[in-house]
Amino acid sequence: MPHPIPCAAALAVAALFATPAVQAQDAGQLNVICSVQAEWCNMIQTVFTKTTGVKVNMSLKGSGEALAQLIAERANPKTDVWFGGTGDPHLQAAEQGLSLDYKSPSLPQLHAWAQQQAEQSKFRTVGIYSGPLGFGYNTELIAKKKLPIPKTWADLLNPAFKGEIQVANPASSGTAYTMVATLVQLMGEEKAFEYMKALHRNISQYTRSGTGPIKAAARGETTVSISFVHDGPGEAMQGFPIATITPADGTGAEIGSMSLIDGARNLANAKRFYDWALTAGAQEMGAAAKQFQLPSNKAAKVDPRVPDFKKIKFIPYDYAKYGSSTERKRLIARWEKDVNSLPR
Ligand code: F6P
Repeated sequence: MPHPIPCAAALAVAALFATPAVQAQDAGQLNVICSVQAEWCNMIQTVFTKTTGVKVNMSLKGSGEALAQLIAERANPKTDVWFGGTGDPHLQAAEQGLSLDYKSPSLPQLHAWAQQQAEQSKFRTVGIYSGPLGFGYNTELIAKKKLPIPKTWADLLNPAFKGEIQVANPASSGTAYTMVATLVQLMGEEKAFEYMKALHRNISQYTRSGTGPIKAAARGETTVSISFVHDGPGEAMQGFPIATITPADGTGAEIGSMSLIDGARNLANAKRFYDWALTAGAQEMGAAAKQFQLPSNKAAKVDPRVPDFKKIKFIPYDYAKYGSSTERKRLIARWEKDVNSLPR
């Protein structure tokens, strides 16, 4: 990934943190896989470098792809920190010993759900944000095509939506895996697979990245997306006609996570970045980069565009079970065989 050009917002935030002393010294480097959207990745890269003098090499990858890379480079790790992405593959990485146990001094500042993610993994990962799964829709297209706004999972099976829906592929995308795991928990496994087979008829495309479908809906390339609803406001702020809704029959949420990699070559810098990324100030950069997940640090300011969790019907998502290697691999393989291989 080429070194991105820092955006104006990142530079403004960086200016607040920068001191001449740290800029002058060579504090080494840090290799980060970043699984949130580019603008946030670029901002933390710029600010951390300006603040510490550490050169950050950043590579952007979806959650499933990031895990696949860490597995592939296991014998010779090239990554120090994996920042962001859904929690399930971080838990799988922890179980497979790909990540290092570490108790950050910032841990007590986090919400219970984020600390629980750390405890469940024996401190090999930690929650940095959370966000609910739902639907995005293009408000202009839905009106023009006289389609109903989908309010429940069942509504997406309406034949009127044939070719009108996009979702990502659960092998590469944590968003799509969250959908598979949510449906299995909501309906029971057999019914969930029957549902996904029926839904398949209405899907125009399974994208690689989890944010691909809502970007496509925003730009009028599809009418509906299955997405994390916190990815909607950023598109709307760019002027696209996009709205989001969470299914009335219940949905799941991700615990976006961060892990230190076992065998990290730049361990001291990795811990320094990890501790910093858990602070309220660093977490507020999400909203500054137009990404509206709920921050895990209790003191972080919550932007009004962050979805209101109190108004959403959540299932009791079993993070430990659906983040286990066997379950995640099995469900993705079953989805490939029973759903993705079907004609449309
Ligand atoms: O960056 C936006 C986001 O929705 C995050 O909240 C989430 O962790 C990530 O994308 C998942 O991306 P993917 O589905 O591509 O793994």
